[in-house]
Amino acid sequence: MEKVDSKIQKRGNRRSFLKNGIVAASAATVGAGMLSKGLSALGADRDGGGITEGDASVLRFLAAAEILETDLWQQYTELGGQDAPDSGYKTGLQQLDGDMPQYISDNTDDETSHELFINAYLTSKGAKPVDLEQFRVLEGSQVTQIPGVASKKRLTNLMQLSVDTSWWTRYRSDNQNPDLGDTFPNAVPTLFQGKFPAIPRNNAELDFGNTNAVNNHVQAIANTAGFHFAFIEQGGASLYAALAQKVTSLEVLRIVLSIGGTEIMHFQTWHDKAGNAIPLTDGALVFPDLTSDIPQPETLQSNLIMPEPTVFLSKKFPVCSIIRPTDPHRFAENFVKALTDDGLFIGQTPPFFQLLGDLAKEADAAKREI
Ligand SMILES: [Fe+2]
Ligand SMILES: [Fe+2]
Repeated sequence: MEKVDSKIQKRGNRRSFLKNGIVAASAATVGAGMLSKGLSALGADRDGGGITEGDASVLRFLAAAEILETDLWQQYTELGGQDAPDSGYKTGLQQLDGDMPQYISDNTDDETSHELFINAYLTSKGAKPVDLEQFRVLEGSQVTQIPGVASKKRLTNLMQLSVDTSWWTRYRSDNQNPDLGDTFPNAVPTLFQGKFPAIPRNNAELDFGNTNAVNNHVQAIANTAGFHFAFIEQGGASLYAALAQKVTSLEVLRIVLSIGGTEIMHFQTWHDKAGNAIPLTDGALVFPDLTSDIPQPETLQSNLIMPEPTVFLSKKFPVCSIIRPTDPHRFAENFVKALTDDGLFIGQTPPFFQLLGDLAKEADAAKREI
């Protein structure tokens, strides 16, 4: 059966590479105006640098994800990055690690570069890049003590988050894998149950100028950000590994692996920092002491930040240290759902969800053509 499939794919292969001669036919099959410029590929074949419709769909979804990442990281940078003025919020972030503002600024730079690179690459191949500017409609933080913050419109909402912290337990499990159907408890269950800000919504929550004792509520906001950083980047790490399995062009594979690697580096950094979140209770939100409060086995202790070897592909194999999940089936669609459940898009319009859903479906439909 597998042999038959691969033969069929091989036959389809030559037709579906983006060639000058098949611009109209290719564009028509991709749907929904996603490739309105047409597919005037640079190369006439793989060796010459052509990419397939599937490659373009994968890259386009990744571009959208990067645009959204850039938007959220910019908000964190403005309020808690290296160039942000001193505040209780920034000091609260530094409770997790003294270098947090630098890491926040650097992560933001990385996302911006990913977004710009992928869109430029798509354009160079005659495929349409992604532009979400029409959806920049959300009110962000209303902090007025940092110039420019309150007047900017945003794509993402960081003020009503329900942060899934199951990545913490997922990466510490030595006998379960989400790709094999396993589910994982949250490390900070209350953070997933309510809606909480990860940035200061106003001057009171910013606590301008404070570099000393941070009040409990502001620290809770900084803690929330710390876990949200890791949530976002573990998603990016899995996203690239999953979608890499769908691309055909070796150069596109190189792009996906190379950018995906930095998402993994981001996640590893944030994973380490989240473990330093200050234990506290702020109303309904409870940050446990992750080194001792959770009645968990030793494998959940906070300094175990390397992925615990676990089952991979099948339980018949020895355990393996891997990122997880990486099953490509409907991955993009699930990625959008995870970000939506996170509260990141609260306030966004139906056309936004329509476009993001279309991009996800097209990426999920991409198939490696060898
Ligand atoms: Fe990125
Ligand atoms: Fe990222």
